Amino acid sequence: MKHPSGLTSGDFTIADEPFQLFSAWLEEASASEPRDPNAMALATVDADGLPNVRMVLLKGLDARGFVFFTNLGSQKGQELRGNPQAALVFYWKSLNRQIRVRGEVERVSDAEADEYFATRPRGAQIGAWASQQSAPLESRFALEKAVALYAAKFGLGSISRPAHWSGFRILPNSIEFWADRPFRLHDRIVFHRKGETWVKTRLYP
Ligand SMILES: Cc1cc2nc3c(=O)[nH]c(=O)nc-3n(C[C@H](O)[C@H](O)[C@H](O)COP(=O)(O)O)c2cc1C
Repeated sequence: MKHPSGLTSGDFTIADEPFQLFSAWLEEASASEPRDPNAMALATVDADGLPNVRMVLLKGLDARGFVFFTNLGSQKGQELRGNPQAALVFYWKSLNRQIRVRGEVERVSDAEADEYFATRPRGAQIGAWASQQSAPLESRFALEKAVALYAAKFGLGSISRPAHWSGFRILPNSIEFWADRPFRLHDRIVFHRKGETWVKTRLYP
């Protein structure tokens, strides 16, 4: 299969920078995954150094890094405030490919968060106001009540982004590509950031 980047499925190890290759794989996964090809596991560590991991959706990608959105008061929000470093893993079952990303984390700008929030369906905007993500919830009814209250409050007007809801960008120091090959002799290449360039290393599977 030929990618827009010119990289074919079989020869990805010739790539000399990771972002184009990432985009090509995501595009292929978008055609073959039954749902959420942009789903990624996000690993953080808590104040005791204990790792934590959960799925989030990739909502932005540029030369700086990988963006997702969430509630800042959530477990992950608190963990990233305490230790702004994270790891991501994408796994596409339909392709049997994995990409791992590690790096520092920064908050996206308010303008960037506003822009994305404005594109969300109205129900999701209300949900962002109503959910105190990761805090104990007394009952399903309490959540439904909060949703109804915010729906009534906003009426038909536009819904601004709550201050407790924003995005994070993972600024990769390394990105590793893994692809299935026969007899578990998989292909692995890792790119490490060195200033403005990337240094590529092939790894034993
Ligand atoms: C496929 C999938 C995508 C998800 N995407 C997001 C997301 O983009 N942002 C988010 O806050 N939670 C997302 N979640 C929910 C998180 O996995 C998690 O339950 C929630 O954010 C609370 O995590 P925390 O307590 O570690 O903060 C997603 C869950 C799944 C299964």
